[in-house]
Formats: sequence, structure tokens, C-alpha cells
Amino acid sequence: MKWSPDELISFVAKVLYEVAANGLTLDYAFQKVKRNWRSLQSFKVFYDVSFDAVRHYYFLKFAASKLFGSSAMKAVAKAWFIYRADALLYNKDLVTRYKKRLLKRALARPEEALEQLEGLRDNAVEYLSVKYSYHPKIVSTLLSHLPQGEVERLLEAGNATWIWLRINTLKADIDKALRILEAEAEVEPHPKIPFVVLLKNAKRPVQYLEAVKRFLAIPQDLASIYAVLSLNPQPGDRIIDLAAAPGMKTSLIAQLAEGRAKIVAVDLSAKRVSRMRHLLKNLGAGGFVEVVRADSRALKTRRFDKALLDAPCTSSGAFTKEPAVKIYPRLEDAPKYSKLQKALLKNALSLASEVVYAVCSILPEEGEEVVTSVGAKAEKPLGDLASSYRGEVGGRTFPHVHKSEAFFISRLRE
Ligand SMILES: C[S@@+](CC[C@H](N)C(=O)[O-])C[C@H]1O[C@@H](n2cnc3c(N)ncnc32)[C@H](O)[C@@H]1O
Repeated sequence: MKWSPDELISFVAKVLYEVAANGLTLDYAFQKVKRNWRSLQSFKVFYDVSFDAVRHYYFLKFAASKLFGSSAMKAVAKAWFIYRADALLYNKDLVTRYKKRLLKRALARPEEALEQLEGLRDNAVEYLSVKYSYHPKIVSTLLSHLPQGEVERLLEAGNATWIWLRINTLKADIDKALRILEAEAEVEPHPKIPFVVLLKNAKRPVQYLEAVKRFLAIPQDLASIYAVLSLNPQPGDRIIDLAAAPGMKTSLIAQLAEGRAKIVAVDLSAKRVSRMRHLLKNLGAGGFVEVVRADSRALKTRRFDKALLDAPCTSSGAFTKEPAVKIYPRLEDAPKYSKLQKALLKNALSLASEVVYAVCSILPEEGEEVVTSVGAKAEKPLGDLASSYRGEVGGRTFPHVHKSEAFFISRLRE
């Protein structure tokens, strides 16, 4: 065996500490811990287990306090082993033996801890927060806008992982890209979007699939695809993307307009602009896009037919991809972002007759409130989106409805 369960638990406890105590994202935390670890043939199991432990942190912390009388990170990592190892580790004998060892010193049986969780039912925020492992502020925000049954389905679905792939028709036709993809993976077509498939099973991690390495298939969340579909890019359109880097949505605009739109991509960050140039080139969209570094709050330029504003935000809707968001949703940053979003949206409306506004956020302060503050007509752009929290000023995507991140998307016209 290449590693022991004790070693796995120590590693995961350190990652949990970096995320929960120091506020790092999962990948930063993982890389930091890995740097100071002995070299292993592969860290894949350690990464997958770290991801899962961060995703289930609040539940595991509760369980650790019942099982071991402690919510120290080591105890939380041990609780991971007891409740989650069966689902993630292949060596069933090892899992059974090690669980038995851990439970020898436990104060309660795993089922008893679960029964105690049911005892929290009277307090909906605490119960849902512990059961599905979300910061109580995420739960209370959702409960103030959606019925409890729906919130529960949303939270449960948010603990699943979906990998959507968009076929990059700038590089290959759909049949050819699918042939290459299906040689290594099983995919399910999206029922309505012909260039999108859901990855079901793959011989290797998505980034190593041949079709992905050749940029014929691009991992992209469905919510991000809906934002671009809301813009309905057409050949001949003049389109400006005002918060464009690293360019995922810009490249889809180029794809949907069949490379025949005039596209300008703007971003404030020099570093991200340079990444965007590189990415657009790799995706085959470089020749169709003019890249500009500018502050989109103040940018003055000729008029466009359409503008996309995929605004900077708290990313509180990104919990399916970034489990650290469930521990640290940073909702307190919303007022700062809301101010920035309003300034960006006002300027967007001065540059184009039609603006699609998108944010990866569960907060109305970054969604409904922003679009109603600017005095333009705002509407839900696509029938497939769920209703917005208030009125029909936009639509929302949710994990339990769309198998996607949680976005707010609106189309505005002067
Ligand atoms: C959500 S990200 C955009 C992601 C991108 N649309 C994509 O799909 O790849 C928001 C972007 O807004 C940029 N940004 C922040 N403030 C800005 C400003 N005042 N003007 C232009 N871009 C800004 C950030 O640098 C960041 O790249």
C-alpha cells in the first residue's frame, strides 16, 4: 500500500484547517499541504478525499463532536472516514478494519450521531446547515426566498458534481468531437442544447481526455452556457463582453455567432487579460475577438448591439465547484460588489441596446436588486431558467433544477 489511513487522515485534517481556519480555497489549501508532504506516486485519492471532507465539513464537525467529543480537525477527518470512506475508497477491507479501530475509542455509534442530528429539526437553519454542510448564512438567505422543501432539495443537489462539456464547434463539428470524446468517456447529450453533453464516466480525469486536451470539448458549467444563450449571439452582431477574462463566455459567443460577429472583450485585470488572449487563441476564437484592457465602469466607445456583463461577485453560487464557499461564503462582501455591479451595469446600458447581466450568486443584493436599480426594463431571458426571487426581472439557475451552479441572469433593454 502506498499510504496508510492514518496518513490520509493527517493530510485531510491539515487541508480542512487551511480552508476552515485560514479561509483558503480548496485547491490552494491542497497545494499548500501537498508541498510539505512526502512524495507519493499519486495524490488523487488525497485530493478527492480532501474535496469531499471540505464539502461535508459542517456535518462532519457535528458528528466528530458526538463521536469523539472534539471538533478539532483531526477528529473531523476521522469522522470523514467513518461516514464517507465507503463511498470514496476502493479497498473495502481496509475501510472496514480502520473504521472498527476508530470506533473502538468513540463515545457514540455513528447511527446515534445521526439520530442527534434529527433532534435539530425544530431549528430549520441549524438542521439544514449541519445536515447538508452549508454555512448557516447560506441556508437562511435561501430560506428567506424559497420554500423550505425546495431549499432542502437545492442544498442536497449542491453536494453533487456534474461535469458539462461544450463541444467547441470553432475547432471541430459535433460528430467528430463526440467520436473522439466517446472513445474515452460515456456522455449524455443535453436534452435541448445540441452542443452540450454531461460527462457520465471517463477513463481518466476530464482535463486529460484527448478531446479536452485538443480544445474540441471544453468543461463549462451549464449556468455559464445559459448566460451566453441569453445573449443569443448571431452572425453580424456587434457584441461587447465587459467582464470577459479568462474568456470562457467570450469564446462561446464567438462559437454561437459562427465566428461572424464583431466581438470586443474587456477586462480590468492585466494578468487575466493576458490569460484570456492565450485561452481565446487555444480555443480557436482568437481571430474573432478584439481584447481590450479597461475599466468597464468608465469605458466610452461606439455603440454595440449587445453587451454581456458577467459581473465580479461574491461567487456564493459556486458551491458545487468550490466547496470552500460552503464554509466561507463571504456574503459580507455583497455591498461592495453590489455597488461595483450597479456602476458596471449603468455603463453597459450606455454602450449597447441590449444587455445580459449574469452573476454567480445566491444573493438578491447582487441579482434582482442590481437590475431593478438601473431604471431599464429587465426580464427573464430564457424559458428554461427558474423564476427569480422577486418579480420576473430575471431568471435563476439552481443545482436541483439545472444540475449547475447558482446564477442570476437577466436581459435588460433601455
Ligand atoms: C466573473 S469574472 C468573468 C468570467 C468570464 N466572463 C468568463 O466567463 O470567463 C469577472 C471579471 O470581471 C473583471 N472585472 C472586475 N472589475 C472590473 C471592471 N471595473 N472593469 C472590467 N472588468 C472588471 C475581473 O477581472 C474578472 O475577470
